[in-house]
Amino acid sequence: DVIREWFGLNHLEHQLKEQLGLNKVIVVAGNSLTQTWVKNDLGRAAVQQLKQWAEPHSVVSVAGGTTMEAVAQVMTPHPVLRTLLYVPARGGLGEKVEYQANTICSQMAARSGGQYRLLHVPDQLSEEAYESLLHDEQIQEIIKLVKSARIVIHGIGEANTMATRRKASPETLAKLKNKQAVAEAFGFYFDRNGNIVHKIQTVGLKLEDIKQAEHIIAVAGGQDKAPAILAFLKHGVHDCLITDEGAAREMLQYI
Ligand code: F6P
Repeated sequence: DVIREWFGLNHLEHQLKEQLGLNKVIVVAGNSLTQTWVKNDLGRAAVQQLKQWAEPHSVVSVAGGTTMEAVAQVMTPHPVLRTLLYVPARGGLGEKVEYQANTICSQMAARSGGQYRLLHVPDQLSEEAYESLLHDEQIQEIIKLVKSARIVIHGIGEANTMATRRKASPETLAKLKNKQAVAEAFGFYFDRNGNIVHKIQTVGLKLEDIKQAEHIIAVAGGQDKAPAILAFLKHGVHDCLITDEGAAREMLQYI
């Protein structure tokens, strides 16, 4: 705590909480853009928060990405986490297997001793495939579970970084540029005012569903992510932000 005071982390948290109208902000020391270990600290802070909010047998809906992978990596067996059911927030979004929400759910369950369910939905669905999947009984059952989540935990990415990482088509990249997309979360791309400018066709949580959850934990750090975090939060789906000093200080320059 003395160290947190010394680095001014408590002050940063307070300022961000007030300015962004969040219920809870946690800022860990460092900048994950340049210091790789900081992502693990983000992970540890996220797990601690999850432990605080989880009730026995809660359903936790989990997104993909490297930050969520870091969250899964630092989970350990725990009396409450062991009772949780981890489900992916949305179907395939074009990530590598290790960063897919399905993989991360199974990792979280394996490390904490909990249960998981998978959403078997391929990336880049055609309209027809999408429609038929929506009518599949098993998929419907999982989607119902996903929508009943008490806690949602997710990452936030920079729009262009995410589109490139997902090998988006030149048309999609052009559209995102044209619409000035700056942020991405759950397969939705946002402009700096928090408006949705593009979405990936898949199944799972819609942004309205996320608002139904009791707790929404966004975990995103790194100085370069500041505009993306601010844009996503402007969309209005937020509750708790876990970030690092690099992103926090940069965000405060913009607001
Ligand atoms: O693709 C899943 C996802 O959660 C995106 O919605 C988000 O933009 C991204 O991962 C965050 O990834 P990372 O934590 O690697 O920056």
